[in-house]
Amino acid sequence: MILNLTVLPGDGIGPEVTDEAVLVLQAVATRFGHELRLQSKLIGGAALKATNDPLPGDTAQACLSSSAVLLGAVGSPEFDKNPGHLRPEAGLLRVRRELGAYANLRPATFFSALEDSSPLRPELVRGTDIMIVRELLGGAYFGQPRSIEGEAGSRVAVNTMCYAEHEVERIAQVAFDLAMKRKKKVLSVDKANVLECSRLWRDVVTRIGTDYPAVKLGHQYVDSAAMLLVQRPTDFDVILTENMFGDILSDQAGGVVGSLGLLASASIGGKVGLYEPVHGSAPDIAGKGIANPLGAILSAAMLLRHSFGLETEAATVERAVSSVLDAGARTADLAGKSQASISTAEMGSRVVKSVKRM
Ligand code: IPM
Ligand code: MG
Repeated sequence: MILNLTVLPGDGIGPEVTDEAVLVLQAVATRFGHELRLQSKLIGGAALKATNDPLPGDTAQACLSSSAVLLGAVGSPEFDKNPGHLRPEAGLLRVRRELGAYANLRPATFFSALEDSSPLRPELVRGTDIMIVRELLGGAYFGQPRSIEGEAGSRVAVNTMCYAEHEVERIAQVAFDLAMKRKKKVLSVDKANVLECSRLWRDVVTRIGTDYPAVKLGHQYVDSAAMLLVQRPTDFDVILTENMFGDILSDQAGGVVGSLGLLASASIGGKVGLYEPVHGSAPDIAGKGIANPLGAILSAAMLLRHSFGLETEAATVERAVSSVLDAGARTADLAGKSQASISTAEMGSRVVKSVKRM
C-alpha cells in the first residue's frame, strides 16, 4: 500500500516527537511492504514566522491532497500577545475544520509497566482503558459571535457555545459504534443542569442511543465526571463529550494513566484524518531531547488503523510500545526519582527495534 502522508511538525517538542513517529512508520512500512510518501509542511508558530499565517494555503492544500496527516504540536509563548487569528493555535483549529475532522478519539490506556508513574494508587488505576470521544468542530471553540471589545479596564469578552442537532448526532454515532467494539458502555458528559447546549446534547444522545440497545448509556455532569475519573477510572469505557469538556477531561485522563506524554489522538470523520499527540508543544522542554515520543508514535498507530485500515500494523506498533516500557525504557516524564531516563531519540529507536522484531 502507498501511505501518502503530510507531516506537520509544528512548534516546541512537535518536531522532535514527530521525527520519532516517522521513523517508526518507516520501520512499519519496511516490515510490512508498504511505501511511505511524506511531505512536511509548516503550521502554527513555525508557519507564522515564515509566512505570518498559522495555516498557509500550501499546508492546507497538502493536507487535503494526502491520505492522512501526522501533526506534532502547535503553540509558543512568543505569540501570546497576538490577536486570536494570528496565534499558532488558530492554525490547528483551522486545519481541523478544513479537514472536517469532527470526531476526536483520545484513548487513555494504562500500561501495567507504568504503575509507578500514575499519581493514583496502583489498585485504583490498574486496568484503566478509556476512549474519550471529543466533539472537535463545535462548541465554544468555533461558536459565533466571539469578541473582546471596549477600553482597557472596562473591556467585555464574548464567546458562544453553540451546537446543532446534526453535530451531536454524528459524534454520538461515532461513540456508540466504538462502544460496540469495546465494553458497550457510553458515558455522555455534559452540564445539562446549566447549559442549553448540554440539554440539547443529552436529548440527542439519548435518541441516538435507542439505535444501540446493546450499549449501556449513562449521563454525567462534567464536574462530577471529573471527580469520578480520578476516583474510579476503571469504571469508564467510552466517554462522549463536547469540545471543551473533552479538551479538559483528556488531559486529566493523561494524568491518571501516568503521563500526558503517552496520549495519542485521531481526529476523523472528514475527508482526511489528522493524528496528533494530546500533549501540546511543551515549550519549557523543547529542544532538549527529553520529550516523550510515545504519544506521537501511538498517534501514528492510530493513523495506520483509522486512515488505512492496517490493524495488524497498528497493533504491532502498540505492542512494540508496551514491550519497550516492559523492558524499563522511561523518558523523563515517566521515570520515577530512582529511575534512569532515556532521550526522545533513544525511546524512538527502541520502539523501531521492537517493531522490527515483532
Ligand atoms: C488539544 C489542545 C488544543 C485544543 C489547543 C492547542 C488549541 O489543547 O488538542 O487538546 O484545545 O484543542
Ligand atoms: Mg488540550
